[in-house]
Amino acid sequence: MRHFLTLLDVTEDEAHALLKRAAELKSMQQRGEAHPTLAGKTLGMIFDKASTRTRISFEVGMYQLGGHALFLHSGTTQLGRGEPVEDSARVLSRMVDAVMIRTHAHEIVQRFTQYSTVPVINALTDLTHPCQILADIFTFEEHRGDIKGKTVAWIGDGNNMTHSWINGAVTFGYKLNIACPADYSPDETLLQAARDMGADVSISSDPLLAAKDADLVTTDVWASMGQEEEQAEREKAFMGYQVDERVMAYAKPDALFMHCLPAHRGEEVAASVIDGPQSVVWDEAENRLHVQKALLEFLILQT
Ligand code: CP
Ligand code: NVA
Repeated sequence: MRHFLTLLDVTEDEAHALLKRAAELKSMQQRGEAHPTLAGKTLGMIFDKASTRTRISFEVGMYQLGGHALFLHSGTTQLGRGEPVEDSARVLSRMVDAVMIRTHAHEIVQRFTQYSTVPVINALTDLTHPCQILADIFTFEEHRGDIKGKTVAWIGDGNNMTHSWINGAVTFGYKLNIACPADYSPDETLLQAARDMGADVSISSDPLLAAKDADLVTTDVWASMGQEEEQAEREKAFMGYQVDERVMAYAKPDALFMHCLPAHRGEEVAASVIDGPQSVVWDEAENRLHVQKALLEFLILQT
């Protein structure tokens, strides 16, 4: 039984095979070639938080693979009325072939996984967002080739996206330069564990230093889902952390810009950057579909 709760749940070889399969699935889809490898299979999608890309990509992905996805918003299931996670995991496992969860505490997904007899996919927790990083790395490699040895600059909040970029540095071997305000730095335990596994990660509070000679510059919102009330306080703390043309000028001339979306133009990113020639955010969003189809095949077909 395999699950995908963080990028550390797949080996380097498996991660590369996933991206290779994603490229095949993408070209089959573009050629209009049917690929119903998951015919008759179902995916339960539990959402405790809002989503556009994640819901659409998983739902469309299952359909394109010949299967079916069920949108289970916590507000309209018994989970939202307090039915234990452990019971929900056992019930869903009896009926669906895999479960995808987007929720708050990472521990909820871990508890669900303990009681699930089908593969579980983390579709974002407060701690990590591994599906997004797989799509981001796939997108980088489509444009620039192997990401190994390249430099990725993360500018902004030390949040779930940052944590997955840190874990990805173990599996994919890129150098990660993080620039964040001291009070918003990534989780120390996760960072230390990744460093112990060989991740090359630097942390500073200087966006220009982080961006220097980077092959990819990336950022995310300053207030994540669940932190809406901290918006004003965070806007103050993150002043000077906007990815603008000055920051991009420190990166390599052919550096790419990425953002998992949704974005706040004028806050973490200038409109001229996200809507400019170095931005690949629309490819990045589309690639969620292709990469997650490969992930669904990988997890469901081996169980
Ligand atoms: N990037 C991402 O996960 O988007 P959604 O919140 O729209 O799913
Ligand atoms: N850090 C953001 C990512 C959204 C896809 C959040 O958790 O809201």
